[in-house]
Amino acid sequence: MAVIAKYCPNIEIKVVDINQERIDAWNNSNLNKLPIFEPGLSEIINNVREKNLEFTTNLVDSIKEADMVFISVNTPIKQNGIGAGQTSDLRWVEACARQISEIAIGHTIVVEKSTLPVRTAKTIKEILFATNDNNQQNKSFSVLSNPEFLAEGTAINDLENPDRVLIGGEDKEAMLSLKQVYLNWVKEDKIIFTNLWSSELSKLCANAFLAQRISSINSISALCEVTGANIGEVANAVGQDSRIGNKFLKTGPGFGGSCFKKDILNLVYLSRFYGLDEVADYWEKIIEINSWQKMRIYEQIVKNLFGNLVDKKIGILGFAFKANTNDTRESPAIDICKNLINEGAFLSIHDYKVSKENISTILSKENNKNWEYVFDVYEVFNSSDAVVILTEWEGYKNLNWNEIALKTKRPFWIFDTRAILRPEELKKINLNLWQIGNGYQIN
Ligand code: UDX
Repeated sequence: MAVIAKYCPNIEIKVVDINQERIDAWNNSNLNKLPIFEPGLSEIINNVREKNLEFTTNLVDSIKEADMVFISVNTPIKQNGIGAGQTSDLRWVEACARQISEIAIGHTIVVEKSTLPVRTAKTIKEILFATNDNNQQNKSFSVLSNPEFLAEGTAINDLENPDRVLIGGEDKEAMLSLKQVYLNWVKEDKIIFTNLWSSELSKLCANAFLAQRISSINSISALCEVTGANIGEVANAVGQDSRIGNKFLKTGPGFGGSCFKKDILNLVYLSRFYGLDEVADYWEKIIEINSWQKMRIYEQIVKNLFGNLVDKKIGILGFAFKANTNDTRESPAIDICKNLINEGAFLSIHDYKVSKENISTILSKENNKNWEYVFDVYEVFNSSDAVVILTEWEGYKNLNWNEIALKTKRPFWIFDTRAILRPEELKKINLNLWQIGNGYQIN
């Protein structure tokens, strides 16, 4: 919405949430205190907040006044009941649809922005048209699907220069209205019209295909380690084929973030629902490889530290699911850290943007004595037995290992799960390195 506000000064936008604290945070005059860290976002907010972008809890007036309402609520994986652990919990989407149905006046275009299971638009439509006797009240609705493809950390650039904008729907006029908004900064040939179900399915598929590439490269990383190959070299050679392309071939501790796992689970659920078990099994494997990648990293750590982590201090560099974000949802760091703590290790955790409070809620209270949070990256090395690099923050790429070597215990192990260090340099200092996808150890 901030980017739309930037490029469409004539459109008045209200971002509505029922959580007062959150809205207050978005209105905070200190731009460093906005709820989400995203490069470039605070600058845009600073420019549009007093003009055409307002953060408010006034749900009723905002819906009444709106020509278009974007539903952009959370759709996490369902915790209980039918489809638990597999499909999205749509309670917030449903609540939004009910509120819009009740409050809206005149014709309102309702846009699904949240990523949703296929055929959710049908649910939204049914609620919109059924909750009230709309005809009598002189209100009408069009439902569109307009999935978001931005990635965290590069969100502003992704929004300003999208590969494509997808608009799914049945009402041509409504689709053209939304297209008009994007035309303020997006070239016409990048705006694709589809039917509602293609749009919903395309979003799930795009994320599934991206995740599939990561699981593919991660599975090969294990093969590199045992054969003496190098995953960076293999990825480069494979990615040079223009049919394959070189993006999303970076090995790591497994994909995290709020989307990939959830969307694949939705795809699996949908496939099973329609009796397509082979399709479901195929996509399920992507998640299995992702869990296995985290598990085998943890096992490598235990194995190299002589099978015992009790009374050992391990530094953790990075808790976010990737660099340039403070988001920890589904971060590989969560499972890996929990497993290390469970083995008896004491963790010293550093991240440039994730807060201690956030980590605290994840690593639960009873474990608080088994880890510490440090602000200075070099502190994690004080009398440590090992360090695990879990996020590819720029700062971790150029650490002063000569200085570090003076602080640690010996033998000292570095586990580089993002393949960001240069093994030749570390060899000179005599520090042990295990690097993901790098079979140099056996050469
Ligand atoms: C993703 C999609 O990219 C985006 O289009 C969609 O709208 C939301 O989901 P996001 O989760 O923000 O975006 O981040 P992304 O850059 O895709 O990374 C996801 C995970 O994959 C991260 O944990 C990242 O470290 C990992 N990853 C990514 C790799 O391990 N290797 C890669 O080559 C790329």
